[in-house]
Amino acid sequence: MISIRSFIRYTALGRILMIPVRFLRFGVPRLAQELGYFLRWSCASKEYYNWTYDLTPLNRDYLASYIAVVTGHEVATIEGYIRELENDAELRQRLRQQTLSSPDRHSCDAEPRYGKRLGWYALVRATKPRVILETGVDRGLGTAVMAAALYRNQREGYPGLVFATDIVRDCGHLLVEPYRQCCRLLIGDSIESIRKFDQPVDIFLHDSLHTPEYEWGEFLAVEPRLHEASLVMSDNSLMTTKLREFAQRRGLEFLYFQDQPKDHWWPGDGIGTAFRLGTKAFFAGAKSNHPG
Ligand SMILES: C[S@@+](CC[C@H](N)C(=O)[O-])C[C@H]1O[C@@H](n2cnc3c(N)ncnc32)[C@H](O)[C@@H]1O
Repeated sequence: MISIRSFIRYTALGRILMIPVRFLRFGVPRLAQELGYFLRWSCASKEYYNWTYDLTPLNRDYLASYIAVVTGHEVATIEGYIRELENDAELRQRLRQQTLSSPDRHSCDAEPRYGKRLGWYALVRATKPRVILETGVDRGLGTAVMAAALYRNQREGYPGLVFATDIVRDCGHLLVEPYRQCCRLLIGDSIESIRKFDQPVDIFLHDSLHTPEYEWGEFLAVEPRLHEASLVMSDNSLMTTKLREFAQRRGLEFLYFQDQPKDHWWPGDGIGTAFRLGTKAFFAGAKSNHPG
């Protein structure tokens, strides 16, 4: 007499009978959870693109470790910078006010959810860049966060600017003083803007048109402005291998961090970084092993 366990495990009929059982046991709870996320998000959020979300606590901790490896700083230092942004009530309040007074208030959520941008902030605080070039501004959440990091760097004696490109003229409603003084908008096609850009770039971040061809075009356009220790980042490494290929071309390390959104249906974006191990700070005079 064959046992039920053996029947399921070793017979073709057992495998067929398990199909509805597996669906009810594993599929239905998962679908119910996803449906819950969708229903809550559909009612509570106004966003219809460029989703913002918080990270799960575990994912946030892993983000700190990732940025520590990329920058060559201690994890505790990076965690301190992440907490600094999370606890910056003034920035949060200004971002909220900007959204609520913007014509975009019906399609944007007032509460800033930084997600992966916690990592961008910590990276800028740790490395003290002089020049960041970001492509793709949209509402300006990433630009505002990096400008806030530069503003704090400036007050510590390490001034820097984030140049941010977008093809949409009225982008960046979140850019507000005093952080805005650390930011310059370049309106127009980003490859065109990069080609005209004439300063050495410490950090380059691709977050504009997410096709492999366009991403690669940006990397080639910025290449003459990069130096030995430049960090090159992409918000598109979830979808393409272009930054990994660019890292190989330049003899750089490549690492990818995958976001894990908290209570959100979106599976998450991520941060790709091409970097040289050991870069700690760009600004001459900062605690650094960068040649300057
Ligand atoms: C994903 S959003 C940027 C998100 C932003 N970095 C953030 O942190 O929220 C992409 C942006 O790229 C812009 N964009 C698309 N094609 C572009 C192009 N050819 N040149 C410049 N910007 C472009 C879009 O207008 C859009 O605002």
